[in-house]
Amino acid sequence: MTKTLLKYLNEQLQTEIASFLEYSLRSASCGDPCMERELAAFALEEAEHIRQLMALIARNGGEVSMSAPQSFPADSLDDFFERSLAREDDAILRYTVLLPLLPTEADRAVLQSSIDQEALHREQILRLRSACGHSADRS
Ligand SMILES: [Fe+2]
Ligand SMILES: [Fe+2]
Repeated sequence: MTKTLLKYLNEQLQTEIASFLEYSLRSASCGDPCMERELAAFALEEAEHIRQLMALIARNGGEVSMSAPQSFPADSLDDFFERSLAREDDAILRYTVLLPLLPTEADRAVLQSSIDQEALHREQILRLRSACGHSADRS
């Protein structure tokens, strides 16, 4: 694994950890049982992305960065939706760029499954935002 690829994978690890933290926090504090369950499921999926990225880095001989991302809670539900959408978009873009750089078909399959799941998260966040009465032009 090249140093550059390792750096990008470790950077993506930070984004996944930030997503895990924010979905967990919002799930724990939103007070809406339906949203709580949905966001808790997102958090578990982000935790699995964290584990998969760590495994991918380790089996390709890289060193996993254990530094925690600088995270701040969202100011509002609007802010939460905007940040979540931005992080999902960022994850999809980064994984798509990294996909052809990975050495094995198995590694590429792992990243492709994360891309598919992030795209689903994005759709579900848009649906949740709409269900909460928030439109794209109100944030
Ligand atoms: Fe993720
Ligand atoms: Fe996600």
